[in-house]
Amino acid sequence: MKHGLLALDKGHPGQMDLLEAHFDIIRPRAPDPERIIAENAQNVRAITTYLNPVQRNLMEMLPNLEIIACGAVGIDHIDLDAAQERGIAVTHTPDVLTNDTADTGIMLMMNILRRGVEADMYVRAGMWKNGAMPLGRTLGGKKVGIVGLGRIGRAFATRARAFGMDISYFGPSKKDDVAYQYYDDLEAMATDVDVLALTCMGGVRTKGLVNYSVLQALGKTGFLVNIARGSVVNQSDLLMALSNKVIAGVGLDVYDDEPNVPESLFIRDDVVLLPHIGSATVETRTKMGRIVAGNLLAHFAGEPLLTPVEM
Ligand code: GLV
Repeated sequence: MKHGLLALDKGHPGQMDLLEAHFDIIRPRAPDPERIIAENAQNVRAITTYLNPVQRNLMEMLPNLEIIACGAVGIDHIDLDAAQERGIAVTHTPDVLTNDTADTGIMLMMNILRRGVEADMYVRAGMWKNGAMPLGRTLGGKKVGIVGLGRIGRAFATRARAFGMDISYFGPSKKDDVAYQYYDDLEAMATDVDVLALTCMGGVRTKGLVNYSVLQALGKTGFLVNIARGSVVNQSDLLMALSNKVIAGVGLDVYDDEPNVPESLFIRDDVVLLPHIGSATVETRTKMGRIVAGNLLAHFAGEPLLTPVEM
């Protein structure tokens, strides 16, 4: 009998094709996903998920669960403590998505400063005939403060440098291998920069890091870009800061309660909103799917995991 694989979503391109021959794939579909999970609970040895949560209660329903193969780099939606207590392996998909995600950050930054999305809408709405649209802001010479100089933060910094931007960063520790200015105080960095770019991990350590005071420090000419996780920003503080004109604008790829985006943002022209597409290219998602499958096949063949989360 094949091992049961609980697939919490449809997976990346090609992912399930690679797994179908090896696993009995269980899809917890509506209208009663819980019943499907309960009926197959004994057989489930593995879970695949992209961004759907895997919390303790789900793990508790699955006595034979051995591995959670996550098709994302961020793993803040997986209860690692619960996994570790049970000796359940967790894998993710770092590296392959670094460049696309950094590109998405640059796309957001350019669009919010140069008003790219607004400009497109301006033409489509026939407004150009009535006169030129408001001016944007130059990227070159601006200061960008990166929150979390990990793989994606570094790739974002390299790109921003190419636009002539001045880089600084905030994080738990100073990195010896970069010359960018380091801040151990986020408010101090926000005060000094024109753009605050969030590229850090989500989770308890970064929850609510960007609050009203940080936004006030960023100030009326400052822009926020978030390609990390919605939880890194206190979303109600952000909404208040926007309506009080505390900052100049924001570009968001991630939100608190995806796919629900606060509707008050829809009517604003100082925001650019993307639907969590950091790594959303055919090339990268295909690679991510191969890594998910590769980790599962390695695990059940008794081989080393390709990309384990170190716990
Ligand atoms: C996407 O947000 C990811 O963590 O891969």
